[in-house]
Amino acid sequence: MADPVIGILGAGRIGTALARLAVKAGYDVGVATAKPPAEIALLLEFTAPGARAETAADLVAGSDMVILALPLGKYRMLDPAAFAGKITVDAMNYWPQTEGNLPEFDSPLSSSEIIQAYLPQARVVRGFNHMGYHEFEQDARPAGDVGRRAMALAGNDDAANAVVAELVSRIGFDPVVAGDLRASRCFGIGTPIFGAGANASELAALLARRIEAILPKD
Ligand SMILES: NC(=O)c1ccc[n+]([C@@H]2O[C@H](COP(=O)([O-])OP(=O)(O)OC[C@H]3O[C@@H](n4cnc5c(N)ncnc54)[C@H](OP(=O)(O)O)[C@@H]3O)[C@@H](O)[C@H]2O)c1
Repeated sequence: MADPVIGILGAGRIGTALARLAVKAGYDVGVATAKPPAEIALLLEFTAPGARAETAADLVAGSDMVILALPLGKYRMLDPAAFAGKITVDAMNYWPQTEGNLPEFDSPLSSSEIIQAYLPQARVVRGFNHMGYHEFEQDARPAGDVGRRAMALAGNDDAANAVVAELVSRIGFDPVVAGDLRASRCFGIGTPIFGAGANASELAALLARRIEAILPKD
């Protein structure tokens, strides 16, 4: 399958770090914020050369995979209809210390399950959440490197999970698919996986323990 066109919504810390790595890995990458593309283009010249600046609407329409790298509290600015069928990587975390309280996320569900409910036709995959933006480049390693870290993913659509897993691998990390979107409850803020810096086998073991402990059995 041809490489997906990647659109990143958000040009802050995580958005630009992912844009740099994805461009380096050979992907066609666009970036949008709520600001006009000319303003973003100037920023990208320095922060992510090779990534295109677009309007948010054009970015979503023209991308096969959209990475949500905007503040979680802005999610209602997304147009659900525009995300129908799109692989949508939710990199957003609920972090009240920086964003304030968002009562709908004070829930036993993960924030990505709530985003999936808001974007019912999107193929949501949770990813890029449990590592700091500065670690993406600092810790990226080629496949097979003994020091390669792992990144957890979770989503309800196996084909979407696989496309995101390939992106994770190509930018420098071993992907570990935890399961469907419910499994993303196991690697959010405050879990032992968040910031752990685990390799693939360590991460798989941590996830298995968390899934056993917190997910209801079918
Ligand atoms: N920082 C990390 O290490 C890290 C790691 C994992 C996950 N996360 C999560 O990733 C998300 C972004 O974090 P960050 O640290 O990158 O934040 P940030 O540096 O504040 O950047 C946020 C970006 O989102 C853009 N934005 C705001 N409203 C938007 C909208 N309606 N449409 C499109 N773009 C919009 C902002 O653009 P303007 O300049 O136009 O406002 C800015 O470029 C958060 O949910 C955070 O929890 C962060």
